[in-house]
Amino acid sequence: MNILVINGPNLNMLGIREPDIYGKATYADLCAMIDTHAQKIGVSVEIYQSNHEGDLVDRIQAAYGKADGIVINPAAYTHTSVALLDALKAVGIPAVEVHISDVSQREDFRQISYVRLYCEKTICGHGVDGYLEAMDYLLEAQV
Ligand code: DQA
Repeated sequence: MNILVINGPNLNMLGIREPDIYGKATYADLCAMIDTHAQKIGVSVEIYQSNHEGDLVDRIQAAYGKADGIVINPAAYTHTSVALLDALKAVGIPAVEVHISDVSQREDFRQISYVRLYCEKTICGHGVDGYLEAMDYLLEAQV
């Protein structure tokens, strides 16, 4: 199984950015955790991060016919991007939405998620472990 993990804007600042909300693990720590977990459960994984909406759309499109599952934390674009929703719909790859923080307990503007309309599952508030749970879900859900 090939899993693509996509991270949106400012997630490259993990460990530095608002550690009371997002924790102390750095982006490099997150990538290492994902790689280690992929080896443990026997899947191959590619991790991509961009601060640019169009680059995220391009990466989702490039996964067509290649990835079997997508784990996506669109970060702030969660709450604004119809383009990311449409890209996921276009490629038709099973996807899980992940948020490190519990967005349901935060500001009103974080209550909207466009990608959620496509994703099979949303995991939020489990910290960086949410990414690993999403990988497990995609592996188990695979037909
Ligand atoms: C986030 C939550 C978003 O509201 C925020 O804009 C982020 C990170 C999370 O992982 O908790 O950048 O997606």
